[in-house]
Amino acid sequence: MNLQQEKILILDFGSQTTQLIARRIREQKVYCEIHPYTMELDKIIKMGPMGIVMSGGPASVYDDDAPVSDPGIFALDIPVLGICYGAQLMTRQLDGLVERAEKREFGKAELEIVNRGGLFAGLETGSRRYQVWMSHGDRIENLPPDFMVSAQSEHSPFAAIRHKEKPFVGVQFHPEVAHTIIGADVLRNFIFGMCNCRPVWTMHSFIETTVAAIREKVGKDQAICALSGGVDSSVTAALVHRAIGDQLTCIYVNNGLMRTGESESILQFFREKSHLKVIDIDAESYFLERLAGVIDPEKKRKIIGHGFINIFEQEAGKLGDVKYLAQGTLYPDVIESVSFRGGAVIKSHHNVGGLPEVMKLDLIEPLRELFKDEVRELGLELGLPEEAIFRQPFPGPGLGIRIMGEITGERLHILRKADVIVLEEMKSSGYYRKVWQSFAVLLPIQTVGVMGDERTYENVIALRSVDSVDAMTADWSKLPYDLLGRISNRIINEVRGVNRVVFDISSKPPSTIEWE
Ligand code: XMP
Repeated sequence: MNLQQEKILILDFGSQTTQLIARRIREQKVYCEIHPYTMELDKIIKMGPMGIVMSGGPASVYDDDAPVSDPGIFALDIPVLGICYGAQLMTRQLDGLVERAEKREFGKAELEIVNRGGLFAGLETGSRRYQVWMSHGDRIENLPPDFMVSAQSEHSPFAAIRHKEKPFVGVQFHPEVAHTIIGADVLRNFIFGMCNCRPVWTMHSFIETTVAAIREKVGKDQAICALSGGVDSSVTAALVHRAIGDQLTCIYVNNGLMRTGESESILQFFREKSHLKVIDIDAESYFLERLAGVIDPEKKRKIIGHGFINIFEQEAGKLGDVKYLAQGTLYPDVIESVSFRGGAVIKSHHNVGGLPEVMKLDLIEPLRELFKDEVRELGLELGLPEEAIFRQPFPGPGLGIRIMGEITGERLHILRKADVIVLEEMKSSGYYRKVWQSFAVLLPIQTVGVMGDERTYENVIALRSVDSVDAMTADWSKLPYDLLGRISNRIINEVRGVNRVVFDISSKPPSTIEWE
C-alpha cells in the first residue's frame, strides 16, 4: 500500500491556523499536504488528492489583490471543504454573495445545526447548540445556486453550507482549533464520509515507504549526515541508516559549546547499539580561538555557523565519493519556505542549511513531511532512547549564545556547571518535559554578595524557562517557588564564581527564548 495514495490537499490562503488543519487531519491517520493557494490545476490533478481543503486567510474576497485559487477545482469531481475565507471564496467562485458583516465575529460562538448530513453527520440538530470558534469580518449573504444551509450562528445565517448534490461544503467557523468542540467530528465527516479516505497513515507505514524510497534514490552511492545530538538529526540518521546501512556515515562536530553530557549519550547509542558509522571531531579549540574577544551575538552565530560548515566539508572530503546529504528538515520549515508569508530575520539561525550549496550534494530529507511530535513518534518507533527523543530543543550555536559577552573556557565551565544543576532539578521535579526549554544563561556583569563574612564580587546566572508549542511564541514557565529556590541555592553553593541567580519573566514576543 502506498500511503501517498490517499491524501488530502490543503490550499493555504495565509491563515494562522493552516498548519493546525494539517495536524488535525493527520491525527485521523490521513496524510495531507499544505500548498500555496496558487497551486496550478494540472499540478493538483497530478497530485490526485482525495479531497481539497481551502484554508482561512486574512484577506477579503473583494480585496483587489485577494488570493484566488483556480476555480477549475470545482470541475474535478473531488470533495472540497472551504474554511472561513475558503468558504467565502467558494461561495464567490460558485456565484453566491459575500459581504462585509455588520457585526464581525471573533472568538467563541454558538452553532445551531439545521441540517444533519454531510459535515454534521452523527450530530444533533435543532435546539442543541455547539460551541465553535469564529474569526471573520466578511460573511456569506446569498448561497450559490444549488447550495443549502446546514448550520447557523447568531451573526452568520450561513455558518455552514453544502451543495445539494456535489461534494462541496463550507464552514464559516474553524474546525481545526480546540475551541470548536465538534471540530474533529466535522473534519472526520469530511475526510472519511465525503472523501472516502481510510485511516492508514501510521508511523509504521511511513517507515516502510520512506525506507524503500531512500534505498531507491541512493542506490549504491554514499551519504553523510551531520549529527548534532538533537532529535531531528538523530531520527534522520536512524531512518537513513535503516535504509542504507553502512553507506551512511555520520559526522559529529564537537564545537566545545555543548551542554555537559548531552551529545555523548546519543553518540554512544548510535555507535554501540545501532552500529552506525560516526566520525567524532573535537573542534573545541578551533571554535574557541575564533570566538576569542567576540561579543556581538550575530558575529558569534556567523563564526559558529561558518566554522561548522568548514569542518564538516573538510571531514566529508576525506570520505571520498559522497553523493547525498541527509538532513532533518521538518514540515514547518518547508511550509515557511514555500509560503507567501515573509518575515524579518531576527537571528541568523544556524543549522546545516548552508551545507548542500557549499558541497554540491543532493539532499535526502526524510522528515520533510512531518511535524515535531510525529518525528518523536517516529524516533520511538525506530527504537531511539526516550531520553534522546524528549530532549528539549538546543540551538545550533549552543552555549555560545547563552554566554553574554565573551566566550572563554572559564566562563563556559561556570555556565556548564550551573546548567547541569538546572537540568537535574528540572528533571527530578518532573518539569523538564512539561516546559519547552529550560536553561541557564551567564550574564556579563558581576554583583556584590556576602559569603561567610567575606564580600564577594561575582557572576550572575539567569534562569530561563519557557512554555511554548512551536517556539514562535512563548511564555515564561510558572515554576514553583520551592523549585526556583532549590535551583538558586544549589547554583550559588555549588558553582564557584556565581553569587546571584535571577529568573527571567519575559514572554516571546517581545523577548526571544534565547538571550542572543
Ligand atoms: P528564539 O531565541 O529565536 O529561539 O526565540 C526560538 C527557538 O529556536 C532555537 N534557536 C536555534 N536553533 N539554531 C537552531 O537550530 C539556532 O541558531 C538557534 N537560535 C535559537 C531556540 O533554542 C528556540 O528553541
